[in-house]
Amino acid sequence: MRKYWLIGGLASLLALTAALAFSQGGLQEVPAGDNEAESEYPSGQPIAFPHDQHAGGQPGQNNMDCQYCHYSAERSVDAGIPSVSSCWGCHQVVPGGNAPEEVAKIQGYVQRGEPIPWVRIYKVSDHVHFPHMRHLNAGLECQLCHGEVQEVQVLNRRDPVWGGDNMGWCVECHRQPDDTGKPQASTDCTVCHY
Ligand code: HEC
Ligand code: HEC
Ligand code: HEC
Ligand code: HEC
Ligand code: HEC
Repeated sequence: MRKYWLIGGLASLLALTAALAFSQGGLQEVPAGDNEAESEYPSGQPIAFPHDQHAGGQPGQNNMDCQYCHYSAERSVDAGIPSVSSCWGCHQVVPGGNAPEEVAKIQGYVQRGEPIPWVRIYKVSDHVHFPHMRHLNAGLECQLCHGEVQEVQVLNRRDPVWGGDNMGWCVECHRQPDDTGKPQASTDCTVCHY
C-alpha cells in the first residue's frame, strides 16, 4: 500500500510538468531484425522497461493508468510515448529494487540530454491510417488490441496480439453491427487508405 501512495504523490507532482515533458517522447522506426544485435533484450529495447511493475496493479506493483504514459491516445492518432524526463521525475527517487542498472541507464540519457531510443513494436504500413482517438472514443480498451500489457515484463518486438499486417482484422471488427444493425464503423477503402 505504501507504494500506491508514493506513486499517487509522484504522479500528481509530475502532472504539472507532464505537458512539456511528454511532448518530447518518441519512437524509433527500426525494421524487424535490425537493432537486436545491439540489445540484450528480445524486444530490441535500450532499457528493459517492465510494464507489469508500472501498470500491473498486483501487490508489490504499481497501478498507473496506461494513458498516464501514453498520454495522447484519446485525442490523437498516436498513443504517444513518455519522454525521458517523465521517467526521471520518478526514478531520481526510485532507484529500482531488482534492476538498479536498468534504472541507472535513464540517468545516463538525462545527463547526455538524449531521448531514449525506444524501438517501435506495432506499426501498420504507411498507406494505412489508424486513429487511436476514434477507437478509444468508441469505448474500446487497449487490451482488446494489444493484449494484457499490464502483465508483461518486457514487451516483445514483433509479437503483436493482433493479426499483424492483416487488413481482415480491422475490417471484421468494423463490419460488426451496432445497435441499429448497421456496421459499427466504415469499411470504405478510403477511410483506412491514403
Ligand atoms: C510514477 C512513477 C514512475 C514513473 C513515471 C516511471 N517509473 Fe519506473 N518504476 C517506478 C516504481 C515505483 C518501480 C518499482 C521499483 C522497485 O520496486 O524498487 C519502477 C520500476 C522500474 C524498472 C525496474 C526496476 C527493477 O528494480 O526491476 C525500470 C527499468 C523502470 N521502472 C524504468 C522506467 C522508465 C524507462 C520510465 C519512463 C518511461 C519509468 N520507469 C517511469 C516508478 C515510476
Ligand atoms: C510508466 C509509463 C508507462 C505506462 C504506465 C504504460 N506504458 Fe506502455 N510503454 C511505455 C514505454 C516506455 C514503452 C516503450 C518501450 C516498450 O515497448 O516496452 C511502451 C510501449 C507500449 C506499447 C508498444 C508501443 C510500440 O512500440 O508499438 C504498447 C502497445 C503499450 N505500451 C501499451 C500500454 C498499455 C495497454 C498500458 C496500460 C496497461 C501501458 N502501456 C502502460 C511506458 C508505459
Ligand atoms: C482497435 C485497436 C487498438 C486499440 C483499442 C488501441 N490500440 Fe494502440 N495500436 C493499434 C494499432 C493498429 C497500432 C499501430 C498503429 C500505426 O502503425 O499507426 C497501435 C500502436 C500503438 C502504440 C505505438 C505507436 C503510437 O501510437 O504511439 C502505442 C504506444 C499504443 N498503440 C498504445 C495503446 C494504448 C495505451 C491504448 C489504450 C489507451 C491503445 N493503444 C489502444 C491498435 C489499437
Ligand atoms: C475491435 C474493433 C476494431 C478494430 C480491430 C479496428 N477498428 Fe477501426 N474502428 C472501430 C470503431 C468502433 C470505430 C469508431 C467508429 C465511429 O467513430 O463511429 C472505428 C473507427 C475507425 C476509423 C475512422 C472511420 C471514419 O469513419 O472516419 C478508422 C480510419 C479506423 N477505424 C481504422 C482502423 C484500422 C486501420 C484498423 C486495423 C489496423 C482498425 N480500425 C481496427 C473498431 C475497430
Ligand atoms: C478498416 C480499415 C481498412 C479498410 C476499410 C480497408 N483496408 Fe486495406 N488494409 C488495411 C490494413 C491494416 C492493411 C495492412 C497494412 C499493413 O501491411 O500493415 C491493408 C492492406 C491493403 C492492401 C495491401 C495488401 C498487402 O498485401 O499489403 C491493399 C491492396 C488494400 N488494403 C486494399 C483495400 C481496398 C481495395 C479496400 C476497400 C475494399 C480496403 N483495403 C479497405 C486496412 C483497411
